[in-house]
Amino acid sequence: MITTAIRGPMEINIKEQLDDVFSRYNKERGNLIPLLQEVQEMFGYLPEETIQEIADFLQLSNSTVYAVSTFYTQFKFTPTGKRTVKVCRGTACHVRGGSQVLREVEKQLGIKPGETTKDLGYTLEMIACFGSCALAPVVVIDNNVYGRMTTTKVGPTLEDTKQ
Ligand code: FES
Repeated sequence: MITTAIRGPMEINIKEQLDDVFSRYNKERGNLIPLLQEVQEMFGYLPEETIQEIADFLQLSNSTVYAVSTFYTQFKFTPTGKRTVKVCRGTACHVRGGSQVLREVEKQLGIKPGETTKDLGYTLEMIACFGSCALAPVVVIDNNVYGRMTTTKVGPTLEDTKQ
């Protein structure tokens, strides 16, 4: 059954939105990944109902679409926050206080890694290494890199991202 998905405070009619997306694609199996990406971009994740709709559109089985979408870590099945906060758990960041930074982020947001705030404002993730070890400890919020992060900088940095 097609219902609605929540993205931020706004309810979105899934069927209407998908019809718009499908109108721009041919019914070819090769369009599965681009379709999954576009649908995720639209809703912030892949609502369960979209798997069925995409399968029907491409004339594939639900299990095929589900198998492909779970194979790639880029696809998410639960709502994510408007902003994603990624804290590095790599060695260089760890030895320079990354764990304390993570604890402060958890405290400020009230969530643990893998969770999203109730208002869908933030999702918290941990990353193995951003490849910016010289800037350790590193936090990335959306695509912005915050190097040499400290526990005292966490609050003001998160506050800045609200604007
Ligand atoms: S260990 Fe954190 S950026 Fe490399």
